[in-house]
Amino acid sequence: MVPDFSQPTTNDLARYWMPFTANRQFKAAPRMFVSAKDMHYTTDDGRQVLDGLSGMWCVNAGHGRAPITEAIRAQAGVLDYSTAFQMGHPLAFELAARLTSILPGDLDNVFFANSGSEAVDTALKIALAYHAARGEPGRTRFIGRERAYHGSGFGGMSVGGIEANRDQFGNILSGIDHLPHTHDPARNGFSRGQPEHGAEFADALEPLIAKHGANAIAAVIVEPMAGSTGVLVPPKGYLERLRAICDAHSILLIFDEVITGFGRLGASFAAEKFAVQPDMMTLAKGLTNGAVPMSAIAVRAGIYDTLMTGPESKVELFHGYTYSAHPLACAAAIATLEIYRDEGLFERAGALAPYWEEAIHSLKGSPHVIDIRNIGLAGAVELKPRDDAPGTRAYDAFLGCFEEEVMVRQSGDTLALAPPLIVSEAQIDQLVETLRTILNRIA
Ligand SMILES: Cc1ncc(COP(=O)(O)O)c(C=O)c1O
Repeated sequence: MVPDFSQPTTNDLARYWMPFTANRQFKAAPRMFVSAKDMHYTTDDGRQVLDGLSGMWCVNAGHGRAPITEAIRAQAGVLDYSTAFQMGHPLAFELAARLTSILPGDLDNVFFANSGSEAVDTALKIALAYHAARGEPGRTRFIGRERAYHGSGFGGMSVGGIEANRDQFGNILSGIDHLPHTHDPARNGFSRGQPEHGAEFADALEPLIAKHGANAIAAVIVEPMAGSTGVLVPPKGYLERLRAICDAHSILLIFDEVITGFGRLGASFAAEKFAVQPDMMTLAKGLTNGAVPMSAIAVRAGIYDTLMTGPESKVELFHGYTYSAHPLACAAAIATLEIYRDEGLFERAGALAPYWEEAIHSLKGSPHVIDIRNIGLAGAVELKPRDDAPGTRAYDAFLGCFEEEVMVRQSGDTLALAPPLIVSEAQIDQLVETLRTILNRIA
């Protein structure tokens, strides 16, 4: 049977299965964006909504930036697609060179994928291949952390530490342990920047090493700052201690910088901000300013070199994606990096961070607020959960803000904020004042 392509599109919302969304609740009262420019979305009823979350932590340079749009448009007219297997195209190599030139330390080689989830799965697989290549194939275990989000692939879900993301899916990767999370409001409530207490949470790695043996552990993966579970800023000394323990046992340390990369923390990358060098770094989101899906896995030179051995005709890593280093994504990423450089956006984020900190902490004392956290241009306001219905208070706050034309992100009972790095002080005020109004309004 020939399919009927003539069917006109309809306003029937039933067909699209939305991700990480209460589909029935949404479809009963849909919220639609139809366009976006700089700091604002436009809704289907013509309202301008201030973007307090950079899309989904990705539109770091603001929406609809002309140089990125133009680069994508031009590239589509020149080379729309080229296979990444056994063939190359110049932009892939150019992007890899440009990216490694701004990455901290000797993260000298990059592999490209299409999403943060793929980047995490790729990093885990590279860790396994690396240890096997250096003669330790028994290093197959991974250590993640509670309250971590590493995407929704099986690897990322397994090392991730969000129970709700695993509960529906019994069959996850084996050989995984989780460090405790670092959220300690009793000691660190209302911290500004890095909390004082909690470096010792890293020591939980030692008993895991003692239990399994270092020679069974491939890698530890952490978000330097846990974004999705509510902006959990690493305590002072914590990442340093993780690094030292990993070094002592030849365990790779992977920083998942999908959120923290590209200026979010007021520095180029979290590794630079905290002066801790990971062995691998996963990047996505801000890499293309969200305009085309793309992610990258950066590895230290030693990892790449270890795998570049054996016969030259050998495929060194049996891994890749049809859309690895997609030409449109490469064009978008190069244009994005140029905007970051030309407009000094990482430095701008750092310069605005104190204003941001003051503004967001001014919500202390507002109804329901039990903690506030911030670093760079990221922040979180945690609300006291309703006794009978966790998460609903923050959801109501999110809806209330949207009605007042400000977009924030609800995660459990926390509201996360991370505006594009082009945000003005007046827009920061608008974000915070809207939230204050809503907190005063909701029950
Ligand atoms: C730290 C981190 N890793 C991985 C991911 C997954 O990225 P994606 O949704 O592009 O697969 C996310 C997404 O928010 C993330 O925050």
